Amino acid sequence: MARFLMEKINQDVTLKIKNATKSFAGVTVLNNVSFDLYRGEVHSLLGENGAGKSTLIKILSGVHKPDQGKVILENKEFVFNSPKEAFKNGIATVYQELLVFPELTVAENIFLGHTPKTKIGLIDWKKIKADSRKILDSLDSHDLDVNARVGSLSVANRQRVEIAKALSQKTKVLIMDEPTAALADTDVKKLITVVKRLREQGVSILYVSHKMPEIFELSDKVSVLRDGNHVGTFNIKDVSEDLLVSKMVGRPVDKLYPISKGKFGKPILEVNNFTDGLRFKQVSFKLKRGEILGIAGVVGSGRSELAQSIFGINPSKGGSIKIDEKEVSIKKPKDARNLGIAYIPEDRGTQGLVKEMKISHNVSMANLDREANGILIIFKKEMQNAINAINKLGIRARNALQLVRQLSGGNQQKVVVAKWLQTEPRILIMDEPTRGIDVGAKSEIHQLMRNLADEGLAILMISSELPEVLGMSDRVLVMNNGTITKEFSKEHATPENVGAIMTQKVKETA
Ligand SMILES: Nc1ncnc2c1ncn2[C@@H]1O[C@H](COP(=O)(O)OP(=O)(O)OP(=O)(O)O)[C@@H](O)[C@H]1O
Ligand SMILES: [Mg+2]
Repeated sequence: MARFLMEKINQDVTLKIKNATKSFAGVTVLNNVSFDLYRGEVHSLLGENGAGKSTLIKILSGVHKPDQGKVILENKEFVFNSPKEAFKNGIATVYQELLVFPELTVAENIFLGHTPKTKIGLIDWKKIKADSRKILDSLDSHDLDVNARVGSLSVANRQRVEIAKALSQKTKVLIMDEPTAALADTDVKKLITVVKRLREQGVSILYVSHKMPEIFELSDKVSVLRDGNHVGTFNIKDVSEDLLVSKMVGRPVDKLYPISKGKFGKPILEVNNFTDGLRFKQVSFKLKRGEILGIAGVVGSGRSELAQSIFGINPSKGGSIKIDEKEVSIKKPKDARNLGIAYIPEDRGTQGLVKEMKISHNVSMANLDREANGILIIFKKEMQNAINAINKLGIRARNALQLVRQLSGGNQQKVVVAKWLQTEPRILIMDEPTRGIDVGAKSEIHQLMRNLADEGLAILMISSELPEVLGMSDRVLVMNNGTITKEFSKEHATPENVGAIMTQKVKETA
């Protein structure tokens, strides 16, 4: 009986990773990691920024070759030479940075690399479109047009295209690296439903996320990585959040939000009847020195567009902005910067960084006047700025001269934050300030935000994580369908109150 059970269990292992080890330039980032992925289970991978999660995934999906160790898929040993090879063998990956091709259509993206052909060898467009439609429908994405250009889609829809691609063949293992980092709550719920359904169909899912609630909702098992080492694998039923966090971080993490002194100066930013003529209208609010003003709302409510217009990325079509009670004209980001505004964008990947450049260069990019200084001074200043940033934000890097491309996702985010703090702004706009940041670093960034506010910085924060908005903000504005529908004081900003207003149906005010 025992033997039968053993065999049964072994049979149910879809993927084994054995003693995986990987170094970059002599630095070991993954050290002798082994674990098993069972059929029809969701297995989450947890760890701080830079712990080695994405590296492990890239070994499984054929992006990196391990220095040592093996990948065993259904009892057969593999060394994948390319992601294409892994994909053909049934391992599909939705990467942390989506790989979709913006110029191609939805259907073209889904079948890229394995396009079905007609009898006479031509690409079978009819089948590609029909099959794409079927797969998207199975993901409840009925309104996603297979002919749409992917570049025009929201992040959530781009991700659905990637998942559809994964399902466009027989997938045994689906790997998802922080799939919900950029999603709104409603989209997270939809994704969770899809993942659960795939699990029921027997797909093994390896899932990476920094968001604890979904880890507990979805996972059957969790494996924790710390500094490239495998700390352990646990049944989710046997562990608490606190235990997992302490395994990840190696110390207890303060889950409380920093306390606001509630003392603010005069309004520094005043926005009146502001509109871009399209995505938001009649927006008016004041932001005081030393205050953190949160904007809650669902994705698509116009929050990011508002931030971009204040910063001059998309110029406004009406209304006014006053800074220190004087009306100002912001037509481009440079105008905003000169007025002391800094903006940390939601999409760090494309808007915030030059990945082929060093950390030092990126950190100083927004504020060092290259023409006015000699090369040596620039270099020294850049180095000093970068070292300060690495220490202040706990950026995990070999040194200040490492290329940003080589940093883990979360550490790249911290470089963007550092870059904008360098400009010593008076007004800081942060769109999703802790997206993709691990639990430990998240509370450090929250503390940093509060400290900066206490020093007089005015912060306008957009976040799709309701606990973050409520925990951090001195005042909360709710944006819904392009207008500000309600303002809450800190005392009245409860999850129930704010949540209800966020999702309320509002009439078009055109
Ligand atoms: N191509 C590379 N060259 C040099 N170092 C690299 C390279 N890729 C990753 N690293 C390093 O390996 C370590 C692990 O990175 P990895 O991306 O696996 O972390 P992660 O656990 O996915 O973190 P995050 O939560 O931030 O996404 C990091 O210190 C990173 O800088
Ligand atoms: Mg990663």
